Amino acid sequence: MSILSGKNILLGITAGIAAYKTASLVRLFIKAGANVKVVMTPASKDFITPLTLSTLSKHPVISSFTNEDDEEAIWNNHVELGLWADLFLIAPATANTLSKMATGNSDNVLLATYLSAKCPVYFAPAMDLDMYKHESTKKSIVTLENYGNTMIPVESGELASGLIGEGRMAEPETIIHFIEGHVLKQLPLYKQKFLITAGPTYEAIDPVRFIGNHSSGKMGFEIAKAAAKLGADVVLISGPTHQKSNSSNIIFVPVVSAQEMYEAAHLYFKTVDVAILSAAVADYRPKYVADQKIKKKDTTLTLELEKTKDILASLGKIKEKQILVGFALETQNEIENAIKKLNAKNLDIIVLNSLNDDGAGFGGNSNKVTIITGEEDMTAYDLKSKSDVAKDLMNEIIKYINA
Ligand code: CTP
Repeated sequence: MSILSGKNILLGITAGIAAYKTASLVRLFIKAGANVKVVMTPASKDFITPLTLSTLSKHPVISSFTNEDDEEAIWNNHVELGLWADLFLIAPATANTLSKMATGNSDNVLLATYLSAKCPVYFAPAMDLDMYKHESTKKSIVTLENYGNTMIPVESGELASGLIGEGRMAEPETIIHFIEGHVLKQLPLYKQKFLITAGPTYEAIDPVRFIGNHSSGKMGFEIAKAAAKLGADVVLISGPTHQKSNSSNIIFVPVVSAQEMYEAAHLYFKTVDVAILSAAVADYRPKYVADQKIKKKDTTLTLELEKTKDILASLGKIKEKQILVGFALETQNEIENAIKKLNAKNLDIIVLNSLNDDGAGFGGNSNKVTIITGEEDMTAYDLKSKSDVAKDLMNEIIKYINA
């Protein structure tokens, strides 16, 4: 999944021949899961039609301050458009528009939208090589960069004039990769490595039976998604579950038993910055696993169980620089027991799940947690969706990292 998925992207098109490539740009943004709206300068409509762009973006295209097609002219609200956008890309950005934006000119709706926009703005300049080299263009580019905007480097090659040199707009794929990379680098967990355990474990009794639990894995998968969305590289180790992860920065490691989860967690732990153990690991497993299916004979069957290894505690023992986060599921003396676990297992953060609250816990979509970092430092959150709980946890971790 692209980091641009779900983002509102405003594409501003100016009058350069490279405008014909914006149809591909819109398609690529949509393919990445983004919502796209287009605002054009009047002259750019000679290079690509608003109909093409509105069809591809599934939104009306704006090119003037009022909608001339309506009997009673409707004002196109450029301020709202600027506020709607999470990200504004001006492509192609001609020398003319660069210069006007650098000086605060607002005599068309694209320029006015730029002046109102509060989101990050990217420019993909496109012009002939002499225009690109001109001191005034260089000055516009530097001015716009100093305003906090980002320039996507031009490419070198054959230009529409027939001349060969710098000034070609970057190809649509290059523009998307550039923006994805740039957005990723701004994220608070960029380059942080996360290890997350999720789901239940199954402990074999014989080849067809096991001891398991009702954990759906939802909480752990939401945590993995939230971390990945904030730029982290995630290894998600999960027991059997129906959950899916489709982010390009989540490596999925499926396991079945507590022992397999233990081994996988130890394989990755040394290399990570943060480990969050949310799996509902079986505390006991059958001491002997039958080779063949156990036949029913007597009225009772006794299984001898032995303890599994406590993965969280074992990581607490070897922890160096890692931030170690555990979960606690308590039914009585909740806070007191959670703090005991925090200290006993050498954790940095413990997430206390309460089974005493309706709608919280296994299986469901919501959870109610208290995030504890020490006796004097805890936050009790309201009942929330598991995805919102995951976001709260990420905020606590970011706070912890930056403390
Ligand atoms: N955990 C683990 N390995 C185990 C058991 C638990 O890594 N074999 C982790 C869980 O992923 C969770 C935390 O330990 O993060 C707490 O689990 P919980 O069942 O609440 O507590 P326990 O330590 O098992 O103690 P008890 O069941 O006695 O409360």
